[in-house]
Amino acid sequence: MALRIDILTLFPGMFAGPLSESIIGRAVQAGHVRLAIHDIRQFAVDRHHTVDDAPFGGGAGMVMKPVPLAGAIRSVTDSDPRPVVIYLSPDGVLFDQQCAAELAGLGRIVLVCGHYEGIDERVRVSLIDRELSIGDYVLTGGELAAMVVVDAVVRLVPGVIRAESTAEESHSDGLLEYPHYTRPANWEGQEVPEVLRSGHHGAVARWRRHRRLERTLARRPDLLARATLDAADRRYLAQFGWPPAAE
Ligand code: ADE
Repeated sequence: MALRIDILTLFPGMFAGPLSESIIGRAVQAGHVRLAIHDIRQFAVDRHHTVDDAPFGGGAGMVMKPVPLAGAIRSVTDSDPRPVVIYLSPDGVLFDQQCAAELAGLGRIVLVCGHYEGIDERVRVSLIDRELSIGDYVLTGGELAAMVVVDAVVRLVPGVIRAESTAEESHSDGLLEYPHYTRPANWEGQEVPEVLRSGHHGAVARWRRHRRLERTLARRPDLLARATLDAADRRYLAQFGWPPAAE
């Protein structure tokens, strides 16, 4: 089933390049995903097409007015079932691989990009179902965040890339990825690990699993507590003193 994504933005031109190239572009061409970009300004009701205004109570910056934004959201949510409406915001829940997989299975999502200081709180209350942040930093608007979400979600839609590519990648089961090598076997004095050229599939799989465990322990030990680990994984990690003794 194709995934449909509606994006509401004040800057539709920002999306042309990133979403028409490479894997995402091909996924759209092949019909795995339907992407529609909507200009919020077209839903402004005054003759100057105003979309922002000064905040009640004073303060810096401008706030996106509720009427154009609500009009834009309602124009893409009149279907049954109503699609999930997601606002990209640094205040949102942190977007991760699990969330990407969940959104890929929804069938239809609406992404709302804010600008200026944010959107009128009443629109959040009435029309936004979820808020997602792509990280603890502040972007100038939600557009780049929406593109990150689209990229991470679309590659998980069945048929977009080979299933094997997503099975063992970073974060798929809570672990980081193993190191990759291609020809030449010796590059500037660095040899490809012998086991990878041995043709012994069991040994290759074990070597890769161990590298994933070591790399995750070294770089992101926070992930290990939530990772899917079997008894052999736990035995392997125990030699490095994981899990650490409770304080
Ligand atoms: N808009 C501005 N900053 C953002 C962030 N970190 N994540 C999502 N949307 C944003």
